[in-house]
Amino acid sequence: MDQAQVGARSGGYKTIVYVICSVAALGGLLFGLDQGFIANSLETIQQHYHLGVHDGERYSSILATGGIVGALLSGLFARFLGRKKSLLFAGFIFTAASAYSALLPPLPVLSACRFALGFGVGVASFIVPLFLSETAPASIRGSMGTLFQLMITIGIFLISLTNVLIVRAFVNPATSLPLMFLTITLFAALMFLGGFILPESPRWLMLKGRKEQAVAVLRRTLNTEEEINFAVAEIEQALHGPQGAGVGIVMRGYFMKVLLVGVLLQVFQQLVGINMMIYYSPTIFGYAGIKGLLAAMTVPTVNMLFTFPAIRLVEKWGRKKLLYVGAITMLVTMIAAGAAFQAIGSVSDSTMIGSAPKTVLLASAILYIFGFAVSWGPVVWLVCSEIFPLEGREIGMTITTMVNWTFAGLVMANALSFMQAHGNASIFYVFAGFCVLAILFVALFVPETKGITLEQMELNLKNGVRLRELGNQAPGR
Ligand code: BGC
Repeated sequence: MDQAQVGARSGGYKTIVYVICSVAALGGLLFGLDQGFIANSLETIQQHYHLGVHDGERYSSILATGGIVGALLSGLFARFLGRKKSLLFAGFIFTAASAYSALLPPLPVLSACRFALGFGVGVASFIVPLFLSETAPASIRGSMGTLFQLMITIGIFLISLTNVLIVRAFVNPATSLPLMFLTITLFAALMFLGGFILPESPRWLMLKGRKEQAVAVLRRTLNTEEEINFAVAEIEQALHGPQGAGVGIVMRGYFMKVLLVGVLLQVFQQLVGINMMIYYSPTIFGYAGIKGLLAAMTVPTVNMLFTFPAIRLVEKWGRKKLLYVGAITMLVTMIAAGAAFQAIGSVSDSTMIGSAPKTVLLASAILYIFGFAVSWGPVVWLVCSEIFPLEGREIGMTITTMVNWTFAGLVMANALSFMQAHGNASIFYVFAGFCVLAILFVALFVPETKGITLEQMELNLKNGVRLRELGNQAPGR
């Protein structure tokens, strides 16, 4: 019997499990607030600081650099400070940097603050999935892990909406800009304060030899002594292997295998083009003559709404089925969006654009975001938090999180100029090509991780089970 079955037998999980996971997932809010901030504020920032297009781009993309550095160091924080304190640290940096930005300091300082925001988000984007995967019982680990992505999308939605409302209410950037930053500060402070109620991750406590404290946490989250003993035994078994692996673990064959899966999942998550839509959809819609609220709010709204079904589907259908559904949807809609732009051609007066290509573009964008929100958004972070063996989990997640930020930065920095250089339709076909590769990759290498304990998966990995079968309870060799 595994932990999921033990949990199910004893009649579900305590409310506190859901409270803990929801509070931890608030770290995802920071991520989303940052990702969503630029789309509807860049113009105001440019006005206030008299920035040209390139300076604006540079300011925006410092975020990704901060994210990479944050992710790089977060493995160390997670290991030495623990998961909870690292999350509080990320929340504090984020709150302080956004509050300071509201004072509208000189541009270099404002940019340093954006770097710090990225740094905080880099740390949070590593810690939250790790914490959730280590704290949630196996049978709801998927749903709880998905909360992270849900919070990201809520963050993107909230900040897009508040920025639009603020810009409409206050025309003067000297008033609207501080208000935008203060809104972020408020949300971030909420997460920071909420973080104090979190317990430490039982797996981290065990890793540090603090078994009594780990048992105390498990007692809060699990129902029966049987479940607690089971969880402790599983963690101990996992800890029995080589411990405290340094960076050298990346050279071990079994680790390289799962690292490859995690890295490629993150690469594809970005190369299917999501951040072109998150950052530039108002601009891209503008090219096709779609303006106003529709252009500003369609993507964040659809993105948030369709993350909700993912919470259930990730447990019901499993991770792989969702990845297929998402990649196929994104493939078809990227081709349709490319075709819409081809139909528009080089019309420079957007009022001359017919309604058919506009409708196709809008419908494709909505379906595309649906495809991402229900699958690659949540599932990639989730699987990356599940596949690594305990002794190398921080390193594995550090690397995969850095890869996410690196490729997100690449897309942010190049999508629009690529469109300029090769025609508006071109980039959509490129992303469609990556969707095809993503489908092949999922079919060949990605394991189904639904319902299996992290410890069993680790055992399978070390027993030489093939990647695709890592999540099987009694896998073939
Ligand atoms: C991705 C981000 C993206 C967000 C959109 C996340 O899973 O990592 O790059 O902006 O989803 O919801």
